[in-house]
Amino acid sequence: MLTIAGMGPGNLALMTPQALEAVAQADVLVGGKRHLAQFADFCGEVRVLDADIPGLLAWLEQQQQQQRRVVVLASGDPLFYGIGTRLVAHFGIGQLRIIPGISAVQYLCARTGIDMNDIWLTSSHGRVVDFDALARARKVAMVTDAKCGPKAIAEALMARGTEKCWLVIGENLGLDDERIHRLRPAEVQAEYAMNVVVILNER
Ligand SMILES: C[S@@+](CC[C@H](N)C(=O)[O-])C[C@H]1O[C@@H](n2cnc3c(N)ncnc32)[C@H](O)[C@@H]1O
Repeated sequence: MLTIAGMGPGNLALMTPQALEAVAQADVLVGGKRHLAQFADFCGEVRVLDADIPGLLAWLEQQQQQQRRVVVLASGDPLFYGIGTRLVAHFGIGQLRIIPGISAVQYLCARTGIDMNDIWLTSSHGRVVDFDALARARKVAMVTDAKCGPKAIAEALMARGTEKCWLVIGENLGLDDERIHRLRPAEVQAEYAMNVVVILNER
């Protein structure tokens, strides 16, 4: 059985009991180094998740044939810009069990009281961001990458005359060094740790 378990933002207290139970029952645990570090006392086999996704898929197929219980740890929710989408496309949902997790976006909204009604959920990971659409939207939540983070978003918004919006930036959410900022675009700094951004442009 192949299980994809949502980790939530990265703190075990924010993982569901079902996901924790799946890890406890697993023969093999797969995940990024940051996530595997949360299970340092796991006794089974461990495989670090890297950029070689075709290699991972081939290896997972072998594990399936051997009927090993594999759990892939996914950051936040597996199907929100996560590894779950790729695994469903490859194996089909009939071959998988997906255990949802708390997305970093959900967590940031909960911490700041931002309702998620009518929010546009998007990502800058590996894609060209449509800043015009971003500047037109009333409420956007974005998971970011190193190429397009808070500063790039703020500059693009200012260039489109959207100086009056708020950017709510959540860094290292759920972790010991969590920080949350609510800033006008002009106040956004150059560097932030791992983050999500909510843009509030309610006219
Ligand atoms: C590939 S996306 C995965 C999103 C994830 N599936 C989710 O539901 O949150 C990775 C991005 O999620 C965001 N992220 C994940 N964990 C985070 C955390 N603890 N604090 C802030 N941002 C986080 C960052 O934008 C990071 O670059």
